[in-house]
Amino acid sequence: MKRTRIAQLYADQTQFGGAHVTVAGWVRSIRDMKDIAFITLNDGSCFKNLQIVMDRTKLDNYSDVASQGVGASLIISGNVVLTPKRPQPLELHAQSITVAGTSGPDYPLQKQHQSREFLRTVQHLRPRTNLFRAVFRIRSVAAYAIHTFFQNRGFVYVNTPLITTSDAEGAGEMFQVTTLDLAHVPTLKDGSVDWSKDFFGKQARLTVSGQLQAENFAMAFGDVYTFGPTFRAEDSNTRRHAAEFWMIEPEMAFTDLAGEMQVSEDMLKFVIRTVLDKCPDEMAMLNRFVDKGLVGRLEHVANSAFARISYTDAIQVLQDAEAHGTKFEFHPQWGQELQTEHERYLAEKHFKKPTFVTDYPKKVKAFYMRQNNDGKTVAAADCLAPGLGEIIGGSQREERYDVLLARMKELHMNINEYQHYLDLRKYGTCKHAGFGLGFERLIMYLTGVDNIRDVIPHPREPGNAEF
Ligand code: 4AD
Ligand code: MG
Repeated sequence: MKRTRIAQLYADQTQFGGAHVTVAGWVRSIRDMKDIAFITLNDGSCFKNLQIVMDRTKLDNYSDVASQGVGASLIISGNVVLTPKRPQPLELHAQSITVAGTSGPDYPLQKQHQSREFLRTVQHLRPRTNLFRAVFRIRSVAAYAIHTFFQNRGFVYVNTPLITTSDAEGAGEMFQVTTLDLAHVPTLKDGSVDWSKDFFGKQARLTVSGQLQAENFAMAFGDVYTFGPTFRAEDSNTRRHAAEFWMIEPEMAFTDLAGEMQVSEDMLKFVIRTVLDKCPDEMAMLNRFVDKGLVGRLEHVANSAFARISYTDAIQVLQDAEAHGTKFEFHPQWGQELQTEHERYLAEKHFKKPTFVTDYPKKVKAFYMRQNNDGKTVAAADCLAPGLGEIIGGSQREERYDVLLARMKELHMNINEYQHYLDLRKYGTCKHAGFGLGFERLIMYLTGVDNIRDVIPHPREPGNAEF
């Protein structure tokens, strides 16, 4: 069977006028008018459905097909008829229809509109809904755009390990990887776990970030990026945290914080433009049903400069806002992490566009960030998106051996475990910087979908790892 994709029919409409084709897909609806029936078919190749016209006099199995339920799969041969005067530009007049797979009245996606909470309980079926077909095609196009952006600039794509023995962020939010028998854990004399008996001969965990290994490659290739899954055992049940999420982490030699911010801004704009360009039907649906201002906002962001403010100035802005009546749950105070409410105020209310906050206090940031001359802050930059808060975390890295070593000691890190990282500062060190973009946060931003559980195929969160 030579199967024509519905996407192709729409793309090359005039060539297909009068052509005999075979399409295959799933029933979205069937309207039976007794002697004629209309089937709305979707084959996944594009957002649009195809209208199939079925004539009782031309099909032996008319009644069988007309009685099929939503979700049934059909293989249909017929003639393409151009219908320029109707809302849809073409339809298929069926000559033969095979029912590949029936569906039933118990099929959970009968109704047009079902809540996203309900759809999370049918994760295996929800990709068939309009919302998820839009979100996951955009996710695919965004991934392609990210690779294109970096490849066009000569970056080398590196696959960093998922199982690791170092904690890249030093936050201790890692999942254990072990083959030890948990009912009989081998211990040392002092009662602690004897990791030498474990699979790797030491304690191993799932990575929270590929950055440290990406730095190894940046010192050889200059410009590199990772794009892969990362894991965090954060016990936070928010709409923007997942236990398994994907991250893009470029790392660039001979680059400072300003250079790093420019690359992240260029990258975000490139991805936005690509998605607007390649997914007009999906974006139109999201703009209509999910987030009314979505397309206009993205167009605007793609064409204007991001805001930049230092952490110290940002705290001032937030305190002024509080003094003028804005209510925050947490009082903004120098030295404290910015809370999501603070991040959102800055990006949404104050600047009304993506905003870089730079030069955070060193005590709220990771050990590898480059210390500024003031002795209090580090060369970090978080990019905050309106509606979301932090979407990118980046920094210039500490390239000075002695300064890095002193900082690691100050944080009581196990120096032996990180000697490889110190080595980079011993052999041909250079100014370098990089960032991490949370892929799901980006998809939330691009689609207007406000829950991370609905932009990742099978979400993993505290208490839930279904499928
Ligand atoms: O700010 P983070 O922790 O930075 C790093 O991991 C650095 N090593 C990145 C680098 O410089 N190479 O995480 C980076 C981004 C965040 O800005 C956020 O978008 C996303 O990863 N992120 C999460 N996304 C979903 N669920 C979670 N639990 C996330 N934690 C972080
Ligand atoms: Mg961060």
